[in-house]
Amino acid sequence: MNFELKTLSLAAAAKTTTDTLIVLISEHFQAGKDPLSALITKATQAKDFSAKAGKSLQTYALPGISASKTILLGVGEGRAADIKSAVSSAMGSLKSAETAKAVLAFAGPVSAAQLHAAVLTVADSTYVYGATYSKPKLRKLTQVTLGVESSNQGLKDAFASSVAIVQGIEMAKEWANRPANHATPTMLGKAAQGLAKTAGISCEVLGPKEVAKLGMGSFMSVAQGSAEPLRFIVLKYQGAAKSEAPVVLVGKGITFDTGGISIKPAAEMDEMKFDMGGAASVLGVFKSLSLLKPKLNVVGLIPACENMPDGLAVKPGDVVTSMSGQTIEILNTDAEGRLILCDALTYAERFKPKAVIDIATLTGACVIALGAIRTGMFATEDSLAEALQKAGNDAMDLCWRMPLDDEYAESLKSNFADVGNVGGRAGGAITAAKFLHRFAQKYPWAHLDIAGTAWKGGAAKGATGRPVGLLLQYLLSQQVSAKK
Ligand code: BES
Ligand code: MN
Ligand code: ZN
Repeated sequence: MNFELKTLSLAAAAKTTTDTLIVLISEHFQAGKDPLSALITKATQAKDFSAKAGKSLQTYALPGISASKTILLGVGEGRAADIKSAVSSAMGSLKSAETAKAVLAFAGPVSAAQLHAAVLTVADSTYVYGATYSKPKLRKLTQVTLGVESSNQGLKDAFASSVAIVQGIEMAKEWANRPANHATPTMLGKAAQGLAKTAGISCEVLGPKEVAKLGMGSFMSVAQGSAEPLRFIVLKYQGAAKSEAPVVLVGKGITFDTGGISIKPAAEMDEMKFDMGGAASVLGVFKSLSLLKPKLNVVGLIPACENMPDGLAVKPGDVVTSMSGQTIEILNTDAEGRLILCDALTYAERFKPKAVIDIATLTGACVIALGAIRTGMFATEDSLAEALQKAGNDAMDLCWRMPLDDEYAESLKSNFADVGNVGGRAGGAITAAKFLHRFAQKYPWAHLDIAGTAWKGGAAKGATGRPVGLLLQYLLSQQVSAKK
């Protein structure tokens, strides 16, 4: 998708030749003396259109308007959420009409947040997955011009960062959507190495031997039932002085989760190819960092493997030793995400991080608790929780804080090891977080359970690219505070 920002008055928008012209009209709209203003006024008087969020009117080849099709689109108060819902519904009709070129013109003044919402929504609602068809599918809409009445540096910067964030979100979608045989741990490692071709980014990919040497017995136990060798991916982005403590992102990279010996039911098991959504979001964040080049340091860690049943697979009741030295009784091999993350959390200590954030499609219980709207967020410090909550709001990629009371850890007690890998069914998202908490004692830590938000089920089945937007918003906000 090619985005372009253009200074475009409504009079100039009317003269622009394009397949579809979408005019975004808020309730504060003031008509001028141009053909589009005349159309808006007439349509409003006839009650065929209003500026209420989501209202729209389509017309064709009108005198004085050069676009083949014009859509008047109400955006109500013009809040980012209004723009998102209005633009996504308009994009639906563009998709069915196979439109290639569109102009989105704002009637009236535009804020950075509005422009950001428009760019992200256009990209999100026109994305097509195409990698594994015999003839690669491509998105039809390839050229989108954002028209603003007057531009300034703030808008130009917002536009450039929105376009870079879109690239990251799309990289995350692409990898999460790929079937497990097209997104093996080895392939994820290669994708990460591909990112390291950009200045500022370096990448190291560890295999089974190196991981064994590090003593990651918990991670290795999950991988041992699979014919695909595990990978431990270390990405580094350096945009600030070496002395600046990094933020470490840890992404769950289970490229397929059968449940292992505690095998899952067949129905919808295909969706477990998305169990590397956390890893995909880390790749996506690095993609955007490579374009945005912010002044901060970020480390990305991805433990990647399959969770398979096999003669060599780990068995319920097996006790393994994690890199931290703590022993774990694996009571349920389907609670594998925490087993690979705990060793990555221990590995993260060596970076003396400012904060560690893990991102994981960790529990079905989180889907029950929060559905598909908000990501479950856990944090050991209020300031980190508040920063993530705010980043989510600003990026329209919402999260909600969940508790970490020690009482929730009671159910993880084991008769045969330091800790068991599962509690009961009650509070399952929280007991999973409490398991991880044991391994995240040496730095401020947050955990994002994206089981409900990283993908959509049903007819629109596919990856959402979440929480790349939230993470980037958070990281960019860290950069500003570091500058002060
Ligand atoms: N990858 C799943 C969690 C999941 C479930 C993500 C549904 C998205 C949708 C995870 O590895 C898992 O299987 N968790 C178990 C934990 C249980 C065994 C304690 C679960 O949620 O059932
Ligand atoms: Mn599982
Ligand atoms: Zn899993």
